[in-house]
Amino acid sequence: MRSPIYHFLFLFFLCIWIAESEDPSGQFCGDSTKIKNTEIYKNIDSLLPKLVLGTSQYGFITTSYGKGESQVYGLAQCRGDVSSEDCSTCIQDAANEIRKRCPNQSDSRIWYEYCFLRYSIQNFFGQVDTGFGIYYYNVQNVTDPDPDTFNKELGALMDKISSDAIMPGNKGLGKAKTKLTPFNTLYGLVQCTRDLSKQGCAECLSIAIGNFPTFCNDKKGCRVLYSSCYLRYELYPFYFPLDSQESIVGAPMNYHSTIVYKP
Ligand SMILES: *[C@@H]1O[C@H](CO)[C@@H](O)[C@H](O)[C@H]1NC(C)=O
Ligand SMILES: *[C@@H]1O[C@H](CO)[C@@H](O)[C@H](O)[C@H]1NC(C)=O
Repeated sequence: MRSPIYHFLFLFFLCIWIAESEDPSGQFCGDSTKIKNTEIYKNIDSLLPKLVLGTSQYGFITTSYGKGESQVYGLAQCRGDVSSEDCSTCIQDAANEIRKRCPNQSDSRIWYEYCFLRYSIQNFFGQVDTGFGIYYYNVQNVTDPDPDTFNKELGALMDKISSDAIMPGNKGLGKAKTKLTPFNTLYGLVQCTRDLSKQGCAECLSIAIGNFPTFCNDKKGCRVLYSSCYLRYELYPFYFPLDSQESIVGAPMNYHSTIVYKP
């Protein structure tokens, strides 16, 4: 049986953020003790193509495969601002990688910059899950504007885009930018999984934002990976569509991560 510390150590080695979108940002390989029969593996293999197809078509899917004790539930979703081509590529990569990275687990999750995929033998649809999370933070501290001003602006931006994310029709997505100084613009994006209620989405986002002072304090950029929501802010453009003068720059290498795990 794998202990939480094993997960912690394993994920710790992902601690340097690598900007390539085809590399996962993180993974969680949950309990393997619940795998009772090989039927579950077969069901996972049948579930994955359904997840890929549904996500490529609609950007989001929850579905299940199999019956009784071997039924497997899956959720897959792309970030709402990503093109359908990037979405489709991302979710195919996710489906390929998750079985390699979590070969014997019945509760597996994989995060990419553009998409998220998860399956489990428990029905987790609609439940807020912040038990496992990864916080990636830019090691550089903000200097312009001063941290107090920055944090006020960050708080206001997060409030605004969180309200957008829970609005019906926005599919769990909120994104906006705000000019801080003549030279610095703050970009923020939040995305809830689309199975959540309005309240569930708000809860996930507020837990993550509430942890900013602990894990992202005064940092120039931070991103939060939970199973129910994703948040990111940066002092450079990273979400779509881009303004004509903007381009997506590869994220700098100076990101470290903190794993949060409450089994
Ligand atoms: C995981 O499953 C594979 C094949 O399904 C098996 O060969 C391997 O021994 C298993 N690993 C563990 C750690 O149980
Ligand atoms: C950022 O600020 C923290 C707390 O003030 C400090 O410990 C850390 O060394 C600073 N990081 C850099 C890269 O200057």
